[in-house]
Amino acid sequence: MFFSGIEQAPADPILGLTEAFRKDPRPNKVNLGVGVFMDDKGTTPALECVKRAERLLWEAEKTKGYLPISGSAEYGEAVAELVFGADFHGLASNGVAIAQAPGGTGALRIGAEFLKHFRRDATVWMPAPTWDNHKGVFGAAGCPVKEYPYYDPSTRGVDIGAMCAALEKIPAGDVVLLHVCCHNPTGADPDAAGWARVADVAARAGWLPFFDFAYQGFGDGLEADRAGLLAVLHKAPEAIVATSFSKNMGLYGERVGSLALVAENGKSAGAAMSQVKRIIRTLYSNPPRHGAALVRTVLEDADLRERWLQELDAMRARIAGNRQKLVSGLARRIEDLDFSFIVRQKGMFSFSGLADAQVDFLREQKAIYMVKGGRINVAGLMAESLDYVCDSIAESLKI
Ligand code: LMR
Repeated sequence: MFFSGIEQAPADPILGLTEAFRKDPRPNKVNLGVGVFMDDKGTTPALECVKRAERLLWEAEKTKGYLPISGSAEYGEAVAELVFGADFHGLASNGVAIAQAPGGTGALRIGAEFLKHFRRDATVWMPAPTWDNHKGVFGAAGCPVKEYPYYDPSTRGVDIGAMCAALEKIPAGDVVLLHVCCHNPTGADPDAAGWARVADVAARAGWLPFFDFAYQGFGDGLEADRAGLLAVLHKAPEAIVATSFSKNMGLYGERVGSLALVAENGKSAGAAMSQVKRIIRTLYSNPPRHGAALVRTVLEDADLRERWLQELDAMRARIAGNRQKLVSGLARRIEDLDFSFIVRQKGMFSFSGLADAQVDFLREQKAIYMVKGGRINVAGLMAESLDYVCDSIAESLKI
């Protein structure tokens, strides 16, 4: 029989944890695995701005007809302005072409398919470490994948010297994946001087930057978080940018993101986008309407936009507060280790430094779920679980 010959696939290292967590009957279980924002009750809330946009749409929406292959043009315009800023030179010159995409992962996959067609032999270079699914997405499209040095465990930060030295040697025809902010999984981003060095190398070496911008607004704010992207685009003429509203608008399950192509001029951007449209047509034909309509409504309505900014600030503040609480909780229990690096990390994740054996111990013995490699979703900590998590981490360090 055909199906009986097929082996069970391994669980996904991140989403598989959520499945295991849901099945876990232990009442004290804590989910610090998948990167979704949670409030202090452990829910991933629909934002109020989104609920209000939903009410407006319910009244105003007259059709459920197909969107164009590249999605809603108005959505694309609003997103391009949010991602690059209204003053970005590429917007005035029409050098930016943008397609709606089914989430950030969908955007990455469309971009990877595009590379497979038009830069067939290009290697895609990724930071070590990177989000586990990056290798899966680009590999599935047939792109060869290699790593460049990024994280330095001894400083808990970016090894910008090693990174730039490696980027300098990457051939012009290759592609370099860069996380714009809130690096997943480490939470360590280059500072302004670091980005300036990356930008110089990009201009000199001539490889194509491919930005993953999934956490805009979760680092230092919507505008501050795009600084690295703009620094590179100031020097490098072309890039691909994948974005997502999963985190910053809480639209996880609506699958809404974008793929932007930054080209030297409108003609090149338009031609490249026409090819992206062919790719989308054969992958899923055209994108879903609802999530993009919500984003557009929030971005275009001054009151809803203001409400969104407040809600985004509140999410960022909760994560920052949790970082502080985790650091003090650990400091009270573990005297010989300094965890203050946790407050310097950006975004949702803390790269805790816990070894895989400790991660396994915490899951198996304590029902605390985190991603292998020691990535903790700090947003998943709650007032009621904080002491238990800190006690358990302290215990895990003794094994
Ligand atoms: C994560 O890194 O946990 C999130 O981006 C969710 C995912 O799809 O892996």
